[in-house]
Amino acid sequence: MKFFIDTADVNEIKAANERGWVDGVTTNPSLIAKSGRNFEEVIKEICKLTPGKPVSAEVISLKADEMVKEGVALAKWADNVVVKIPMCEDGMIAVKKLTAEGIKTNVTLVFSVMQALLAAKAGATMVSPFVGRLDDVGSDGMLMVNEVIQVYRNYDFATEVLVASVRSPMHLQQAALVGADIATIPYKVMQGMTGHPLTTKGIEMFLSDWNKAQTK
Ligand code: E4P
Repeated sequence: MKFFIDTADVNEIKAANERGWVDGVTTNPSLIAKSGRNFEEVIKEICKLTPGKPVSAEVISLKADEMVKEGVALAKWADNVVVKIPMCEDGMIAVKKLTAEGIKTNVTLVFSVMQALLAAKAGATMVSPFVGRLDDVGSDGMLMVNEVIQVYRNYDFATEVLVASVRSPMHLQQAALVGADIATIPYKVMQGMTGHPLTTKGIEMFLSDWNKAQTK
């Protein structure tokens, strides 16, 4: 399972990369705004930090032709840029055109199996079902992911399932169990997965036993 980091904060990317947790990066307009940095400058820096690994950068336009123009420009920023396109009819036109030009796409804001199926048919490289936001409105985000995976398998779609809007280690565990290709994870959630009270207790006990033995 590939781990992408869901952030536009280069310090978080550096830290996660150092720990071997970065197979790619996803950003969105909110994350770019949160970074307080220029879009082009920060995407180029992230691409340099993670050479050869996909870095999703999202278009802002909502009309197909403008999305394509924006996507073509984004793809020129670095060879590992993946153009993130929102799920909508114009978005699907843009995905088909960008795919024909050899540009990779990530269809975002996917909340149903049928949206995921349409994105795959348009030729999306990746599709991003948002589990956390679905859970927030009382639906079962992970059930949707599971069904998307099943549909893609039934028909041999090459589109990768990128589980997004991950809020907890539990989301990640479930995504891994249903066989998602990728999950994009906030750095805080990555950190939350490393610890366990029994690990902490075990380390303390080993050290204490060791120190006692040294004084004999
Ligand atoms: C995915 O690419 C999005 O950036 C992200 O996962 C959205 O997550 P959120 O629902 O926590 O904002």
